[in-house]
Amino acid sequence: MNDAAISRTSYDTALERSQALEQKIAQDPSGLRMLTGDRPTGALHIGHYFGTLQNRVRLQSAGVETWLLVADYQVITDRDVVGDIAGSVRELLTDYLAAGIDPERATIFAHSAVPALNQLLLPFLSLVTQPELERNPTVKSELQAAGKSAMGGLLLTYPVHQAADILFCHGNVVPVGRDQLPHIEQTRVIARRFNERYAGGEHFFTEPDALLSDAPTILGLDGDKMSKSRGNTVMLKMTADETAKRIKKAKTDSERLITYDPDNRPEVSNLLMIASLSTGRSPQEIAEDIGDKGAGTLKVMTAEALNEHLAPIRARRAELEQDPGYLFSVLRRGIDRANEVADATLNRVRDVMGMVY
Ligand code: TRP
Repeated sequence: MNDAAISRTSYDTALERSQALEQKIAQDPSGLRMLTGDRPTGALHIGHYFGTLQNRVRLQSAGVETWLLVADYQVITDRDVVGDIAGSVRELLTDYLAAGIDPERATIFAHSAVPALNQLLLPFLSLVTQPELERNPTVKSELQAAGKSAMGGLLLTYPVHQAADILFCHGNVVPVGRDQLPHIEQTRVIARRFNERYAGGEHFFTEPDALLSDAPTILGLDGDKMSKSRGNTVMLKMTADETAKRIKKAKTDSERLITYDPDNRPEVSNLLMIASLSTGRSPQEIAEDIGDKGAGTLKVMTAEALNEHLAPIRARRAELEQDPGYLFSVLRRGIDRANEVADATLNRVRDVMGMVY
């Protein structure tokens, strides 16, 4: 996204807070609640998996309470058609559980199914100004990417909705990519202003921290941004054969000696990175092994490494796919739990605002 527009100082401060949080997680994760989520737009690819999903599973295993949001209302921020949203939600649930999110420990919910969460939007909207909303660089670049000239009301205000997603359950660890930082900053401002203006300075909402991952960005197989619409992905749901075929067609260069050089050889380096993430070996080491055997060998190695890494996930995925009833029962359980927590928060909000009749 529009990274350049996110000022260096605010990035550096967020990074410092993120590193401190990472230390706390290692030492004592008690009291930490992770809240993060995805727009349900279909099945996930390896960019999602290596970029975020794997990290969420790590945090869950480290003992951080795990809340995963299916941000269905956010699908309609920049597109006119909802599409088969239930199908997309099902794919997302399948990928979550296959990758290792534990349905017994995690709370997975859709925000459209939690009315009290959405009601927080009203007091929160009173705490932000139009210029503040219009300045959000991520919202601006999403408007541009959608190819629309006029800003929709939901697109303009969704960072405030996102604040409700995070604050309703007092999430304090928000693992996100850099493009989401403006929304986390907006959430922190809303928490602060709510405490001052409506809670008489009481510490009602805690300002959450972004947890910035150091996972490298995986490019698509053509060297562009990985995205389903470009057909340059490897999906978690693909078979090993499909994966090998896709990787075989990946763009590379004509230099036979394989080296890890992301600046000058982005496509070759991207394959090396995929192989590295799949095996836990460094990309340089893998490049040295291949030597001057060329891109063909690199592709075969990468496909094998990736397929081996994904095999257990794909096996679980295939089982889960057989049982959509189970998947939606996990979601409904999460929705029930989210509603309990959201109702409690909204009741306390009404209380501090003097709106109990
Ligand atoms: N805006 C996020 C995205 O586009 C998804 C999201 C919605 C989210 N609500 C959230 C992420 C709350 C973290 C916390 O990817």
